[in-house]
Amino acid sequence: MARPKIALIGAGQIGGTLAHLAVIKELGDVVLFDITEGVPQGKALDIAESGPVEGFDATLKGSNDYADIAGADVCIVTAGVPRKPGMSRDDLLGINLKVMKAVGEGIKANAPDAFVICITNPLDAMVWALREFSGLPHEKVVGMAGVLDSARFRHFLSLEFGVSMRDVTAFVLGGHGDTMVPLVRYSTVGGIPLPDLVEMGWTSQENLDAIVQRTRDGGAEIVGLLKTGSAFYAPAASAIEMAEAYLKDQKRLLPAAAWVDGQLGLKGMYVGVPTVIGAGGIERVVNIKLGRDEQAMFDKSVEAVRGLVDACKNIDSTLA
Ligand code: APR
Repeated sequence: MARPKIALIGAGQIGGTLAHLAVIKELGDVVLFDITEGVPQGKALDIAESGPVEGFDATLKGSNDYADIAGADVCIVTAGVPRKPGMSRDDLLGINLKVMKAVGEGIKANAPDAFVICITNPLDAMVWALREFSGLPHEKVVGMAGVLDSARFRHFLSLEFGVSMRDVTAFVLGGHGDTMVPLVRYSTVGGIPLPDLVEMGWTSQENLDAIVQRTRDGGAEIVGLLKTGSAFYAPAASAIEMAEAYLKDQKRLLPAAAWVDGQLGLKGMYVGVPTVIGAGGIERVVNIKLGRDEQAMFDKSVEAVRGLVDACKNIDSTLA
């Protein structure tokens, strides 16, 4: 059977890391697409030349032509501009919306059967716009944010508790921005919920609150350190986990910016929710029950996402 084809739209920091991870994990053959000439070709060749050392069986191709993504099984979109220090994800809206139009049309014409994972920020609005421009089914277009935000939360918790990151599960919902909702009650160490661990004296409420805030600011913390760009290793790893869940029909329960229509009291919008990802794409949105405070935080986050979608409609009247 032919290897799956993975198209990476955007061959920048995240795109290059995605390509490297995809072939090391032997998820399929990779096409790196970018508008900048030479960069996707150079990265594809460089990674391919690591093949004999790493011992993977996969081909890589760099391209500036959408025809090369034809028939892709998975498209991961990072095309656009990243944040600089002092910028919020929302500041990227106008410029990245135009990029989503070009990318959506390219996918529609060349890879209409793909499972599409959007990483470009501001995430929840960009994945919505990408779906609109591409016209693909909603369950085949999803945004990567929750896996990354949850991974950051899990990392900070493992440091606090001095336990393996593998034994920490965490859930972060809502929009991928300052209003994201780390769900403390549904986050556990070895199955023990965080509120119980506070009672058991493993940490204080104060420390837990600080970790929640650090998670919300996780992207900005990296931007502040790098100064010339935003995070790319953890975002790439997170999107690869989602692509693998689709390609291997793993039915993974992962938080993602998915189309929600009916669940959690929402009608037709993209926002971060728990999902099941398998061969059907987003096979299920988990209708999680929220407490009163959690609901209030989630509502605020939903409002922020709605504001960004409205801003997109104001910029591009074809979306209204
Ligand atoms: N089509 C294809 N590629 C494009 C287009 C376009 N219309 N416009 C820009 N690009 C390419 C750039 O040439 C660049 O190589 O997108 C790439 C983006 O790479 P980086 O600038 O290195 O950004 P990266 O760190 O990979 O982040 C990409 O993901 O997390 C988000 O906020 C981040 O929106 C940003 C995106």
